[in-house]
Amino acid sequence: MSETTEVTLKQDIENVDWQALADVYGETLGPEDPAQLKRTWTRSYATVLAYAEGRLVGAARAISDGEREALIVGVVVLPAYQRKGIGSRMMAALTETVQGTAILLTCEEDENVPFYEKAGFRAHKRVMALGYRGGYAE
Ligand SMILES: CC(C)(COP(=O)(O)OP(=O)(O)OC[C@H]1O[C@@H](n2cnc3c(N)ncnc32)[C@H](O)[C@@H]1OP(=O)(O)O)[C@@H](O)C(=O)NCCC(=O)NCCS
Repeated sequence: MSETTEVTLKQDIENVDWQALADVYGETLGPEDPAQLKRTWTRSYATVLAYAEGRLVGAARAISDGEREALIVGVVVLPAYQRKGIGSRMMAALTETVQGTAILLTCEEDENVPFYEKAGFRAHKRVMALGYRGGYAE
């Protein structure tokens, strides 16, 4: 991807290729089932997909009531397209859509902390979880 490569964000899920989305997760966070992605993305309050060079290169979504609380999950950019501002643009699009809500997310990797801090997020010590499959309890 060159400096001039155009990156387009799409916030609806019309005509999404769920297998392509599963492939993007497969290359970043881990395997996903396209059929489950279709269900969970369809039920999400806000979604964002990033396209460049004719392919899907990034994705993220927010689960929310649209007024009080929101949870951002599944923020990914393909390795070859990272550190070019795509993740930040997707975060801005999502946070804009759920503006005014308390927005939570989980961050398992220390290396991702600066990314979320740059998007305005701050770590909070006392977040409790039940049935959360990622991460580790401290
Ligand atoms: C985390 C992720 C989505 C960031 O996407 P991205 O498009 O690379 O992020 P951006 O280019 O918008 O980065 C914005 C800023 O965040 C910070 N940042 C992003 N990745 C970073 C890293 N690996 N180490 C340190 N800082 C980082 C930098 O300050 C960066 O600005 P800079 O490039 O001008 O220095 C991407 O690295 C990714 O998909 N990682 C693998 C999947 C994953 O871990 N997702 C998060 C799940 S919680």
